[in-house]
Amino acid sequence: PLFTMVNKVTCIACGACGASAPNIFDYDDEGISYCLIDDNQGLVQVPEEDEDDVYDAFEGCPTDSIKIASTPFYEKDIG
Ligand code: F3S
Repeated sequence: PLFTMVNKVTCIACGACGASAPNIFDYDDEGISYCLIDDNQGLVQVPEEDEDDVYDAFEGCPTDSIKIASTPFYEKDIG
C-alpha cells in the first residue's frame, strides 16, 4: 500500500508533481500542492494504477516535499 501527502511548508509551487500524477496532486490558490484524494491528510491509500505516478512525483520534486509511506500518515507528520 502507498500513502502520500505534501509538505506544504517546503513546497515552492514548482508544479512538477501535478504533471507527474494528475490524479493525485492538485494546487491551492497559491499554487502550493496538496494530495487531492484526501485533502492532504495522507490517510487514503493511493489507487494501485496511480502508484507509479506518485513515485515519479516523489522523485521529481525539487524540494523533497512529496512524502510517501506504506502506512497512513497522522496529523503530526503534516508540515
Ligand atoms: Fe511543490 Fe514539489 Fe509539487 S515543490 S508543486 S510538491 S513537485
